[in-house]
Amino acid sequence: MTDLRRDGAAALDWAARYLEEVSEKPVLAQVKPGAIRDRLPSTAPAQPEPFEHVLRDLDDILLPGITHWQHPRYFAYFATSASEPGILAELLTATLNSVAFLWRTSPASTELEGVVLDWVADMLGLPSGWHGHIEDTASIATLAAIIAARVATGRNQVVCSEQAHSSVDKAARMLGMQLRKVPVDEEFRMRVSELDDLSDTAVVVATVGTTASTAVDPVAQVADAAERGGTWLHVDAAYAGTAMVCPEFRWAFTGVERADSLVVNAHKWMLTPMDCSLLWTRRPEDFRKAFSLIPEYLRAPDAEDALSLSEYGPALGRRFRALKLWAVLRCYGRSGLQAHVRNGVDLAAKFESWVRQDSDWEVCARRHFSVVCFRLKGSDQRNAELLERVNASGELFMSHAMLRGRYVLRLAIGQMSTTEEDVCRAWDVLRREAGA
Ligand SMILES: Cc1ncc(COP(=O)(O)O)c(C=O)c1O
Repeated sequence: MTDLRRDGAAALDWAARYLEEVSEKPVLAQVKPGAIRDRLPSTAPAQPEPFEHVLRDLDDILLPGITHWQHPRYFAYFATSASEPGILAELLTATLNSVAFLWRTSPASTELEGVVLDWVADMLGLPSGWHGHIEDTASIATLAAIIAARVATGRNQVVCSEQAHSSVDKAARMLGMQLRKVPVDEEFRMRVSELDDLSDTAVVVATVGTTASTAVDPVAQVADAAERGGTWLHVDAAYAGTAMVCPEFRWAFTGVERADSLVVNAHKWMLTPMDCSLLWTRRPEDFRKAFSLIPEYLRAPDAEDALSLSEYGPALGRRFRALKLWAVLRCYGRSGLQAHVRNGVDLAAKFESWVRQDSDWEVCARRHFSVVCFRLKGSDQRNAELLERVNASGELFMSHAMLRGRYVLRLAIGQMSTTEEDVCRAWDVLRREAGA
């Protein structure tokens, strides 16, 4: 049997030790496909085992197959952090195991979710009074927004820029909607002049912080076009939205106050463990029209007075995700989040300046936040091989993007433990491997 106090102390000790020692591990898992599965039994144990066996096998079998997102030299995709308050709150969430499909099935979960979404909206400078709730991922939040837009407009077309995240393509494909991609300008922003008439478009998706280069679409101009066409405006700020906690980045949210819906991932840059995607709308009734479906067994006498968040999105069962965000907001405060964002942006600026000073390298996109897009001068193949060598070293983990048809490297800073020393080391490894 598991002894919660004894085994819990061991698990917490494991977590604390992991965070202390993670910087010594190879960032990218250095295993071949199937290697972990081969070491695991093909059937579940017939008899109960002690929890310490789980911790033992986590160390011995699973850890070699973990890519360490909590590593200070994790620079791939968008770097994320599960901060200590978030980690602890996840334990409490699992302990409560609330399933908040109706208000009455977990009133505190539903009400705290509304409160923390209001808090974050205020911190990011969003209009007051928007309805906010949490989805698991930005992919599902954007899917939900597109569904609401389709119901509200009765139209079947989605428009976004060619730099929008693939979750928009996927949503359109899953919904059987047409997708039109608008070209981008020299800074990878949607070319509003090519938006054309949107009067047959259900939703236009503008991105604040694109996945490849963190470009910022001109949201205010997209909002003008959406207004003219009677089109829903969804803004995807999955990564960059968190930066709006700092006034100096608010320029990027100009026009967002006119959006019909907006997604920001707290599990990207807001120190909150995966998964926690924040979705706001100024048109909650349209979400409700799209998603409310209450079968007889879920009818409750308090339904008229009590908000059930399952009526605003695809899922019925809802985890108590607000708890971890609440813990993060309380334990960091606005100033702590600002310091985290500014640290990432300052480190990215330093790295960018080193790249600019070295004539063998070039910066490939304007940097707005904490991601630097750059490349070694030379062929795509040379850069792709360089990235393979860098990642195989285990010293850091980076990813790539295609910009203007060219292969570029991305250094994405966002881990809470990343220091200047880590970024320096990344630059050293890149130059070492480039000369290899
Ligand atoms: C701009 C943007 N939108 C959406 C997503 C999808 O996020 P999620 O993994 O939460 O679905 C990403 C992922 O990196 C992204 O960069």
